[in-house]
Amino acid sequence: MQIDVFTLFPEWFSWMASARHLANATASDGLRMGLHSYRDHTTLSGGQVDDAPYGGGPGMVLRVDVVAAALEGVYGMDAQAVRDERAVVVLSPRGRTFTDAVARELVAGPPLTLLCGRYEGFDERVHTLLASDVISLGPYVLAGGEIPAMAIIDACARRIPGALGNAASLDAESFGAELGGRTEHPHYTRPADFRGHGVPDVLVSGDHGKVARWREEHLGPPDA
Ligand SMILES: C[S@@+](CC[C@H](N)C(=O)[O-])C[C@H]1O[C@@H](n2cnc3c(N)ncnc32)[C@H](O)[C@@H]1O
Repeated sequence: MQIDVFTLFPEWFSWMASARHLANATASDGLRMGLHSYRDHTTLSGGQVDDAPYGGGPGMVLRVDVVAAALEGVYGMDAQAVRDERAVVVLSPRGRTFTDAVARELVAGPPLTLLCGRYEGFDERVHTLLASDVISLGPYVLAGGEIPAMAIIDACARRIPGALGNAASLDAESFGAELGGRTEHPHYTRPADFRGHGVPDVLVSGDHGKVARWREEHLGPPDA
């Protein structure tokens, strides 16, 4: 899976690359992550990337010509043509909500380009002319698109073969088909007694049938 992130803060992502499952996915050639700064591509003086909103109001808006120059600099083609070859995703509270189903869709889809906003967000022409999708991490406003991008990368990368030490972890995980889209049952481990709080008897009974039934009964609600 190829994921390119466009951001004003590419260095924020360097810690991610060292996370075990991302390092595994990269080492197994399953993941290629590119980090690109809008500032490296702007032709405006002083590294300018934003401007005041037409019509007035607070805050600054990321310029469409700067985003287009960054896409053209990285992909070597007209910025509007990039979305013919890649999923170009604007990160915005206005987008469709990121879910496990969306993660699976992105992993199965074309190479991914994540556009992180800052300030008041992007000039609307980034949405209409350059992007193919808009995704929100949830119904709240963050200061930038970097944390949503990291969440998307994390959720996608762990689905890449070789990323997880125990690939079986994926099979029966929350929201997966095996659990009928529901969330997983609770887990317990040692000690069997913690300050007077024990674990369900059935889990230490050694009866695999009963354990399976208990787990089935304790699945959570499905993804919205
Ligand atoms: C301060 S926010 C802009 C908020 C925008 N003015 C609004 O009211 O919707 C700056 C950037 O953070 C990112 N962002 C903030 N919240 C987000 C969310 N819930 N999901 C995805 N991206 C988000 C977007 O990239 C956005 O352009």
